[in-house]
Order: sequence, then structure tokens, then C-alpha cells
Amino acid sequence: MTTQLTINGDTHDVDLPEDVPLLWVLRDQLNMTGTKFGCGVAACGACTVHIDGEAVRSCQVALGDVWGDVTTVEGLGTPENLHRLQAAWIEHQVAQCGYCQSGQIMQAAALLAENPNPTDDDIDQAMAGNLCRCGTYPRIRAAIKSAVQGA
Ligand code: FES
Ligand code: FES
Repeated sequence: MTTQLTINGDTHDVDLPEDVPLLWVLRDQLNMTGTKFGCGVAACGACTVHIDGEAVRSCQVALGDVWGDVTTVEGLGTPENLHRLQAAWIEHQVAQCGYCQSGQIMQAAALLAENPNPTDDDIDQAMAGNLCRCGTYPRIRAAIKSAVQGA
């Protein structure tokens, strides 16, 4: 069965069963490996992408259930035109091992798209489900705040 997906503005015809998780479509079929596999059970946020602007866990969305346009970290910005969060991440040197960071940035990007001026509580609430085994939480929050102030 062929499913047509729009990802980062491009159309893709995917020949896979409809119950394959979007995460594996992105990584294994389309070679978009910026989206990471952490837990597979919606507990870590490493696999976060956007569907129609909403942050979702791509390990939990079946191919056949994708309801809108997908944006992955590869589509958030370009090296020449970074998303303001990506620029702030670099400025604050947020990443340690880096494994969780694309999910963190995608979660934060959905927050700022919905709420351009989040409070500390808003940030904490929005980011609570994105885990970082390296403990970069203080730098993540600082980078989000810096992106908000620079907007
Ligand atoms: S891999 Fe999807 S939430 Fe952990
Ligand atoms: S930077 Fe290593 S898991 Fe977050």
C-alpha cells in the first residue's frame, strides 16, 4: 500500500504497511536520521516531529494515521537560515552527546509557534516530556529564553 506524505515541503510516496511507526518511515525509509529513537514508548521525546505544527512523538504515530504535513528537524532551518532556536542552541552550546537535542528543539519550536512569549512555567510544562540523559536542562531553558528575547 502506498501512502503519500508531505515532509518538509516535499511529497514522498511510501510503500510500507500502514502500521509502521512514522519514526521508522523517516529514519529507515527516507534516511532522515535527525529524528532519533530513544524509548519507542512515548517516554523520552527523542523522536519528536511536527504534524501540522503540533509536536508529536513519531514512535507513536502509525504511517496510516499521519493527519497532516510533517516537519522534521531537517526542515526546521538550513545552515544558511537557522531557526532562531537552533541559533540559540549554538550560542548556549546546549548539546552534550546531542542525542536528545533534535527532539528538544522540535518540542521547543512547537511551543514558540503557539506561544511566542512563554513564561518559565510554560517552558517547563512544554519541555517536561523531553528527557536528556546528559542533564542539559538548564542550557535548554536558557536557550529557549534567549530565543524568545531575541524574537
Ligand atoms: S522514542 Fe518516541 S518518545 Fe522516546
Ligand atoms: S545531550 Fe545527551 S541526551 Fe541530551
